[in-house]
Amino acid sequence: MEISAQLAGIKPSYIREILAATQAPGMLSLAGGLPASELLPVSQLMQAMESLAQSPEVFQYGETTGYAPLLDFLSAKHGLPSDNAAMVCTGSQQAIDLIARAYLNPGDTVAMEAPSYLGALQVFGLAQANIHSIEQTNEGPDLNQLETAFATGSIKLFYGVPDFHNPTGVCWSLAVRKAVADLCNRYQVAFVEDVPYRELRFTGTALPLVSSFSPNNAFVMRSFSKVSSPGLRLGMVSAPKEWLAALVKIKQASDLHTGLPMQAVLLSLLRSEGFPKHLEMVRSNYKQRYQVLYQALEPLFGEYCECDTVEGGMFVWLKLLKSQAMDVTRTLLEQNVAVVPGDVFYSSVDITRPALRLNFTHSSLAQLEVAVARLSDVLRAQV
Ligand SMILES: Cc1ncc(COP(=O)(O)O)c(C=O)c1O
Repeated sequence: MEISAQLAGIKPSYIREILAATQAPGMLSLAGGLPASELLPVSQLMQAMESLAQSPEVFQYGETTGYAPLLDFLSAKHGLPSDNAAMVCTGSQQAIDLIARAYLNPGDTVAMEAPSYLGALQVFGLAQANIHSIEQTNEGPDLNQLETAFATGSIKLFYGVPDFHNPTGVCWSLAVRKAVADLCNRYQVAFVEDVPYRELRFTGTALPLVSSFSPNNAFVMRSFSKVSSPGLRLGMVSAPKEWLAALVKIKQASDLHTGLPMQAVLLSLLRSEGFPKHLEMVRSNYKQRYQVLYQALEPLFGEYCECDTVEGGMFVWLKLLKSQAMDVTRTLLEQNVAVVPGDVFYSSVDITRPALRLNFTHSSLAQLEVAVARLSDVLRAQV
C-alpha cells in the first residue's frame, strides 16, 4: 500500500542504524539518550505498583487531561501560572506532536536552534512545516538571527531546549532567556519550551524558565523520563488555558488519555520521602561520569576537537577540527563504539558542522574511558 505523502517526505535516518547497532554484544554506546539503567528507582516503583490495588479507579477510563491527583501535585510543585492549565502526556514527545497537529498547517514555519532535538525535527517534518534554523551560541540561540527571522512575520512557533540542550548540552544564559521571551512577546511568536533535562543540573544554580518571563505566550513540556523512568512514558504539557484546550481535543481523538496506573505510580514516587535524595544521588553520579568523560577527552582538545563544559543533562558536543563526523562514526562502530554524528541534528545538510554527540549517563566510568581511548585512536589516525 502506498504511504502518505507526508511520511514519504521523511528521509530514512542513519541514526536508526546506529541505535540498532548499540544492541550488539560488546558495543560501548555513547549514542542513545538513556539514563543509567542501574540508577532507575525500580524498587520504589515496584512498591508503588503493589499498592495500586488500593486505588481501583485507576483501572477505569479517565479524563483526557490526566490523573487529577498527579495533575494537582505537579501544578502545585511547579507553581503553574493561574491562567495556565496542564495535561499529562505519553512522554513529552507526545506533547510536541500534539502542538504540531493542533497549530501547524503544511507550509507554516517553525524556528529551531541548529542543531536541534531530532525527535522535534521529525515531528515538524511530519507536519510538513518549514524549519527556520537559528544558530546556537554557547549562551543559547543567536539573538540577532532570531529577531531577523521573527521580523519576517512568517514564524509561527519557536521551539527551544533551554536547559542542557539535546544535542549540545548548552544551558541558555539568564540574559538570553529574558531576551527570547521579550522577542517572542514582541513579535507574537509562541515559544515551545522543552525541558526534559532541567532537573539534571549537577553544577551551578538553576535559572528561571524562559516562559516565566512570558507565561501567556508559551507551551512548557516536562518529562519524567530522565528523573524517574523512560519506560513509564510520562510527561506533562502546560500552556494558557485556551491553547491547551486545542491539545486536549487532539489527544482525545488520538489515544483518549495516557494510562492511569502508571500516573498513579509516578505520583507515589514523586511524593515519596526518599525521592529528593534519589535525585541528588543521580545528579552526583552523572557529574562524576561527565567529569571522567571530559578529562579523558581533554588531551585531544586544540588539535583534533573542542568541547564546551556542561553544567547538567546527558550530553557533550564534540566539535571535530579535522575529521568528518560520519567517517568517525562509521570507523568507531567497527570498533564497537557507538556515537551520534552531529549531522542528524540539522534540518538541512547545508548547515551542518562536524561534531559528535556523546552521552555520558548510560556507560560506566570504565566504559567511558575505553570508548574515548578508541575515539582518540580514530581521530589521530584520520589526520
Ligand atoms: C529535547 C527532548 N525533548 C523530548 C524528549 C522526549 O522525552 P520523553 O521520553 O518524555 O518523550 C527527549 C528525549 O530524549 C529530548 O531529548
